[in-house]
Amino acid sequence: MKKFENKVVWITGASSGIGEGLAKAWARSGARLVLSARREPELERVAFGCEGAKSILLLPLDLEQPQTFPAKVDQVLQQFGKIDYLINNAGIGQRSLAKDTSIDVDRKIMNINYIGTIALTKAVLPNMMVHDLGHIVVNSSLTGKFGAPYRSSYAASKHALHGFFDTLRAELAETSIKITIICAGYIQTELSKRALLGDGTQQGYIDKAFESGMKVDTFAKKVLKIVAKEKREAWIGPKSYAVYIKRFFPGFFAKQIAKANVR
Ligand SMILES: NC(=O)c1ccc[n+]([C@@H]2O[C@H](COP(=O)([O-])OP(=O)(O)OC[C@H]3O[C@@H](n4cnc5c(N)ncnc54)[C@H](OP(=O)(O)O)[C@@H]3O)[C@@H](O)[C@H]2O)c1
Repeated sequence: MKKFENKVVWITGASSGIGEGLAKAWARSGARLVLSARREPELERVAFGCEGAKSILLLPLDLEQPQTFPAKVDQVLQQFGKIDYLINNAGIGQRSLAKDTSIDVDRKIMNINYIGTIALTKAVLPNMMVHDLGHIVVNSSLTGKFGAPYRSSYAASKHALHGFFDTLRAELAETSIKITIICAGYIQTELSKRALLGDGTQQGYIDKAFESGMKVDTFAKKVLKIVAKEKREAWIGPKSYAVYIKRFFPGFFAKQIAKANVR
């Protein structure tokens, strides 16, 4: 897509899954990429597959270490001078009933999915405001629109993103800075394998529900189109219609989600 040629696109969670798909899609559009996540060898692997990118900066980063973000932003600005797109994609899943989930796990999920995401955004924002340009994209989830069993803190962290970024969009209304929130249904990644159980260990296998999910490449292409159109919010993938059911038939929805096959 011509719109993204030479643009600086910083993607978090770029070491696997959706972030990897987004990195490859933006590379094909001729963007300059900043790829972030904790696993550096995986970032190197993804960068190798990013054909078409004008330039790539690998920038390992841990969302649980927000004190490191100002220096990370400086590194991007030293290399590229600006940040056109911040793609807040990194996140961690949960597969445990609320009653079985330790408060440490609740806190960790909030720290990564919510606090880490808004802290990185706040670190990038001053430079975007100086240039009066920039577009912040947030990978929420359909679980950011309604709760579902085994995902209490995950749903809470994604709902919190909507509260924060809807507010930020309103506060930035007089600027040129845009905000897009993406809410995905099942996408074929290993999110559920790495999802935390109540004791903080990982689930270790992929949920059956993901088998019928959307392919990452298909999802990534849709995201680029939505971002190009500067949409405020988009719902993509299987079960997106559930947002309408919850809004118009809340009683029916509550009964269905309680017995839905969500794993
Ligand atoms: N797959 C779906 O069906 C689905 C649906 C809705 C929303 N989403 C959202 O999509 C995003 C990407 O998930 P995915 O499905 O692509 O799963 P994934 O393959 O597990 O990707 C998660 C990414 O987040 C990064 N990450 C996790 N903890 C981090 C931390 N502390 N600091 C920095 N990076 C961290 C991981 O990299 P490292 O481990 O290398 O740090 C990885 O690159 C998540 O926000 C998820 O909630 C996914």
